[in-house]
Amino acid sequence: MKSTIANIDVVLGLETSCDETAAAVVRKGTQVLSSIVSSQVPVHRQYGGVVPELASRAHLEGILPMVTMALERAHCTLDDIDAIAVTQGPGLIGALMVGVQTAKALAYTTQKPIIGVNHVQAHITAIHLRDPDFPNPPEISYPHIALVVSGGHTAIYRVDDPVSIENLGQTLDDAAGEAYDKVAKMMGLGYPGGRVIDELAQNGNKEAIEFPRAWLSNRPNDFSFSGLKTSVKTHLKKYGVPEGQDLKDLCASFQEAVTHVLVKKTLRATKELGIADVVIAGGVAANSRLRSRMIERAKRQRLRVHPVPLRYCSDNAAMIAALGYQLLQRGRQNDVLTMDAGAKIKELDS
Ligand code: KG4
Ligand code: ZN
Repeated sequence: MKSTIANIDVVLGLETSCDETAAAVVRKGTQVLSSIVSSQVPVHRQYGGVVPELASRAHLEGILPMVTMALERAHCTLDDIDAIAVTQGPGLIGALMVGVQTAKALAYTTQKPIIGVNHVQAHITAIHLRDPDFPNPPEISYPHIALVVSGGHTAIYRVDDPVSIENLGQTLDDAAGEAYDKVAKMMGLGYPGGRVIDELAQNGNKEAIEFPRAWLSNRPNDFSFSGLKTSVKTHLKKYGVPEGQDLKDLCASFQEAVTHVLVKKTLRATKELGIADVVIAGGVAANSRLRSRMIERAKRQRLRVHPVPLRYCSDNAAMIAALGYQLLQRGRQNDVLTMDAGAKIKELDS
């Protein structure tokens, strides 16, 4: 039977915007039946960052096995899927095209609806996902504020409902995750560096070095991390790459500078708009100091913080299926023949 928008229940999601090839099956936009993520980190590590051509090729090799595995783990076949959601953008164009073309081929041959999803917005929708290990996601009232912090994005949003998401401000230069990755590279800590810095920082003195914070007082919802990155570079040039406790202190001091700004600006925007709930999403939302500082500071101001569960912070396809479901419920759908990937947000359909 051809699925109509009215009877959509189970959505297959595909994600190939950067360096993770992922597929997932999600029921009613919340219940994760399967979520498979294949990281390309081993492919890119030796280059210290994502190489777009290698990413596209790895997606091409990985996407169909990921779809097969996601369907198997969900104990279903393509016949049980009501619609296909795919990351339309933003991201690396060659990488996005692999997901979009695969989704189009699946939608065309099965005659099922297809919906293109904004990857950054999907990071926010991830807060509604649940699975057997995380059966009761928090009840979050609308509107709420969302901080999305990843390797490619750092932005604050006002979320009026799952598909009405307004950008309030963003980074003017590097994303927070990018700053982590570049600083880690300078210190020879490998790629990606966020998690390594986070781990080292946990036993470091965060007051050891006073790194600069870009408050941008006339742009209170915007961020800038390039000055901080340069400051770490200058420090390393002057004193060399530290070892042992000094390395931990440097990581902790850098991390404090990043999280101080992220927390303060997010909570300021929340208070100013008279909103009580904050979601933190994206790969950097896995950061231990960001989570603890945000929760502690929010409590003082009687605000509620909802961090996305760790496994849905970094790129995954369950969040794509979840936002796709919400869009389909509201009657949105793409044309399978004309739909295209878009590297930039302004090129997306929704
Ligand atoms: O959301 P994501 O998987 O991919 C993008 O859409 O960019 O985010 C990846 C980013 C990387 O920059 C990585 O270093 C960072 O998230 N990251 C962290 C942590 N875990 C991952 N940054 C700080 N602390 C962490 N624990
Ligand atoms: Zn992402």
